[in-house]
Amino acid sequence: MLRVAVLISGTGSNLRALLEATSDPAYPARVVVVGADRDAPGLAHAEDFGLPSFTVPFTSYASRAEWGDALAEQLAVFEPDLVVLSGLMRLLPPAVVARFAPRIINTHPAFLPEFPGAHGVRDALAAGVDATGASVIVVDDGIDSGPILAQERVPVLPGDDEHALHERIKPVERRLLIDVVRRYATGELPAEASTLS
Ligand code: GAR
Repeated sequence: MLRVAVLISGTGSNLRALLEATSDPAYPARVVVVGADRDAPGLAHAEDFGLPSFTVPFTSYASRAEWGDALAEQLAVFEPDLVVLSGLMRLLPPAVVARFAPRIINTHPAFLPEFPGAHGVRDALAAGVDATGASVIVVDDGIDSGPILAQERVPVLPGDDEHALHERIKPVERRLLIDVVRRYATGELPAEASTLS
């Protein structure tokens, strides 16, 4: 069984979908811990599934590097084979990325390299595109710039606002994430990831 640690900042709806997928005995991965950079509402999903969780508040540390070191120490306690950033809205310092890469992945609500950053859905709407998407990538030191493991287009519909479009993207993100984690568990990744960079 692949041991997965998930990091969140928000509601954790994609985390919940992954937790539900791992309830299938045939699914080859298990979430072993959920961590957050703040008092995130999504931590409640860990409790629902009887899993440990931790918070390493970004605002409690003097620098991003010190926060990252504390976060990595907490993660290491649970010996994860894979770290999933599922709505973690903080850039990880390079030392943390180096410690886990290429076994650290991120979901993003856009068809990367289009619309990276914290406002992928808003930026797609502002650009007036007729399609955006969802992506799962390997984390590197840039902003949503790592190798793409899976992605799919999602149409922008007339009348879409940020919430409506994001809610249509998230089910696609969840499907891609669950499949990518399965591919890590079966050994198909990360070998493939290095050829995609
Ligand atoms: C997801 O759409 C995720 O891709 C996005 O935050 C949302 C979290 O939703 N992450 C980013 O934009 C990172 N750049 P959730 O908390 O309901 O799972």
